[in-house]
Amino acid sequence: MIKEPSAHLVDPINGKLGNCGRTYQKKLRDLTQLYADSEAFEQAVQEQGDRIVYQVQDQHPEQQRGDLIFGVTYMQPGRIGDEYFLTRGHIHAIANRPEIYYGESGEGVMLMESPEGETRVIEIKPRVLCYVPPFWIHRSVNTGATPFVMSFTYPSDSGQDYGVIAQTFGMRSRIVADGTGWKEVPNASYQPRGAEQIKAIYATKG
Ligand SMILES: [Fe+2]
Repeated sequence: MIKEPSAHLVDPINGKLGNCGRTYQKKLRDLTQLYADSEAFEQAVQEQGDRIVYQVQDQHPEQQRGDLIFGVTYMQPGRIGDEYFLTRGHIHAIANRPEIYYGESGEGVMLMESPEGETRVIEIKPRVLCYVPPFWIHRSVNTGATPFVMSFTYPSDSGQDYGVIAQTFGMRSRIVADGTGWKEVPNASYQPRGAEQIKAIYATKG
């Protein structure tokens, strides 16, 4: 029995996806150990820990292979110290699975890191499509003054591995305010992956 086609209206301002199966939200207090300035983070949690920093609405097919997950992500603007609000970030558990993001409103960047620790930063604004190739760790960052909304899609069997970033004490770079714009700076806590860890990532192919 093949599935019915479906239509899903994207609300680019409120970051909603019509006719959609699932919503999850991250509050500021959930995002521990992501930001360089832990004092500023603790203070922000005391003042507004229940603030919703990002929300995802997505549609998951029942079948785990050969289909697509798709949805919309909505990120509030803000900073912890000089560091912009970001998502926790991950690599796909099946690491050779790619992802597409498409800018709906606001502005931000996709921060990506290869297993060897090279970084790439792609600026995303409305109508910019960003391709995250297989094997890149990825996280989105709202560098604007308004909500940052993107739609996305990735293979349904991809999965998410959040530990890959925790193991290296964050991604190699941070995205911080620089005058009226942003800049990429080194993460002082970062510990590069060893040869075995790199090999393990490349071995998780589907
Ligand atoms: Fe992803």
